[in-house]
Amino acid sequence: MKYPKFLMEHFQNPKNVGEISDPDGVSTVCNASCGDIMQMFIKVNGNRITQATFKTFGCGAAIATSSILTERIKGCTIDEALEISERISKEILSELPKEKIPCFTLVSNALKLAIEEYKYKQIGFHQKEEFDSPKTRALKD
Ligand code: FES
Repeated sequence: MKYPKFLMEHFQNPKNVGEISDPDGVSTVCNASCGDIMQMFIKVNGNRITQATFKTFGCGAAIATSSILTERIKGCTIDEALEISERISKEILSELPKEKIPCFTLVSNALKLAIEEYKYKQIGFHQKEEFDSPKTRALKD
């Protein structure tokens, strides 16, 4: 299968590669099917994503789709960014070979987790630790 031109352009000249110093949200995720890793960084101001970057050991499809996603979510609210991720997934997945679909799942999961970390920071990590601690989980069971 030949990749469409817009995907090839983002693969050959990816946007937003690298780290953000002092990010508001950061995530590291792994694609279980291939073992590749993706990191995503977001900077948020007033609930709007002002900057989004990524680093990956992933394939060309992961690089191209990360570039597209990070470009499109800049300036969006957190909720809009998640909607855009869903929209891209419908738009792009039909253009990718079936075996490359987990590559975009890796990218969208990286965004979701970076946003989740941002939200945890808003409520305070102590509450997240309480929420996630084995003790709390045992009490809930
Ligand atoms: S093959 Fe691993 S991210 Fe695409």
